[in-house]
Amino acid sequence: MSTSSPPRPGPFRTKSVEQSIRDTEDPEHGLKRELSALDLTVFGVGVIIGTGIFVLTGTVARNTAGPAVALSFVVSGIVCGLAALCYAEFSSTVPVAGSAYTFAYTSIGELPAWIIGWDLILELALGAAVVAVGWSGYVQSLLSSADITLPNAINGGTDADWGFNLPAALLVLLLTAILVFGVKLSSRLTALIVAIKVAVVLIVIFAGLFFVKADNYTPFIPPKQPSGAGTGGLKQPLIEWLTPFEPSTFGVMGIFFGAATVFFAFIGFDIVASAAEETRRPQRDLPIGILGSLGICTVLYVAVSIVVTGMQNYTELSISAPLSDAFKAVGHGGWAWVVNIGAVAGLTSVTMIMLLGQSRVFFAMSRDGLIPRFFSETHPKYRTPYRSTIALGLVVAGVAGVIPLKQLAELVNIGTLFAFIVVAIGVIILRRTRPDLPRSFRTPLVPWLPIASVLACLWLMINLPVETWWRFLVWMVLGFVLYFGYSRRHSRLDDEPTGVAPPGATGPPA
Ligand code: ALA
Repeated sequence: MSTSSPPRPGPFRTKSVEQSIRDTEDPEHGLKRELSALDLTVFGVGVIIGTGIFVLTGTVARNTAGPAVALSFVVSGIVCGLAALCYAEFSSTVPVAGSAYTFAYTSIGELPAWIIGWDLILELALGAAVVAVGWSGYVQSLLSSADITLPNAINGGTDADWGFNLPAALLVLLLTAILVFGVKLSSRLTALIVAIKVAVVLIVIFAGLFFVKADNYTPFIPPKQPSGAGTGGLKQPLIEWLTPFEPSTFGVMGIFFGAATVFFAFIGFDIVASAAEETRRPQRDLPIGILGSLGICTVLYVAVSIVVTGMQNYTELSISAPLSDAFKAVGHGGWAWVVNIGAVAGLTSVTMIMLLGQSRVFFAMSRDGLIPRFFSETHPKYRTPYRSTIALGLVVAGVAGVIPLKQLAELVNIGTLFAFIVVAIGVIILRRTRPDLPRSFRTPLVPWLPIASVLACLWLMINLPVETWWRFLVWMVLGFVLYFGYSRRHSRLDDEPTGVAPPGATGPPA
């Protein structure tokens, strides 16, 4: 392998690819390489299918896109496909844990890596909160089938009448405790949960097909309506805010506004990339796992959304448990039970994987010195990064209890889309700075495809509400303040004059 470029000074100094890979070979910090392409695809489907399809389908169909929510899924799937092609090259070139954070550290520099890590916390920690809130909706639908209704004060309430979402907060606390004790879902149990979840999705498609009424598809794209958000309002998408038109919902633009929200349903394929260090033949298996799971989920999502909006008029879909409630609406409470149980099991595993993912990114950043090293200390007995797990678990539980699902999901989406943009730019940069690196998977049409990916992600981002942009900007400003106030000076790259971090600086805990 030829030499790497000389280390750059300042916030754009990078960690070498070789060093990142060497870190993972450190016996004390490396992970066992035992996953195959099939394992990764199953893992991908397991983490991708969650609240997006089980909950947001109803919200978006009812409030934003009507039956055309199926097209929103197609648009979002295309944006994710472009991003996945970039992720696949990156993860097959830099097969180490830490996902986009590590990618950015090796290609663009420390500051962008920090921004991505900071952003990934948004994706994974808040993502866990979103899925927990979705889980709570299905638990409550299950309870209501048994004639049990939780009081508004503790069931998350409604838009008009706020309530704390106790079930969601309790789920996060319980899973945090499980992660601290280092209980891993065995691969068999994970496979079983994935099988149940996929079976439930297939049941919705095939059993639901019998209750579809063609009338419910008219109009397929409901006519544009004023949204009532008011010109200059915080609730309207940025793109409308930038133009003088009356804020609206539905119509053709509704498909894109919807796509920016249902994007949440696809999040997770990027987490497959973070399993690089545990993959037997990452160069071959990772791209298969990432693109395979994304393709399977896109087909399932489009089919589910077409069936559900055909079973019940979009104006009547439930916003907390639309898939099971559609069966209740057509008088088949039995199927609703099955769907509820599958959703509860499936969403539990997604919440757990997201909580695990965020504690690993936090841990990796802490081990690199970018956040206090206090958080990377592992538990003396359980060998888990318990401090970061507990700290983030408490925050996530609180957030899941108080913030409504859709707002949370949109914030997660903007953060994730931004991370995708940095990865796409990273592919172009790494091709120039390190053309010598072996890449068994090469993104086609570089630089055009990564540029298209950047533009597609930006397009979805500007279809998100202005208030989401504000929240995101506040989060990023906080990130910059922390980087220049703390991380810059405490980075472990400073320990080495070559700009190379010491061994063990990036891998997650074993
Ligand atoms: N894609 C995952 C979900 O929809 C995060 O829950």
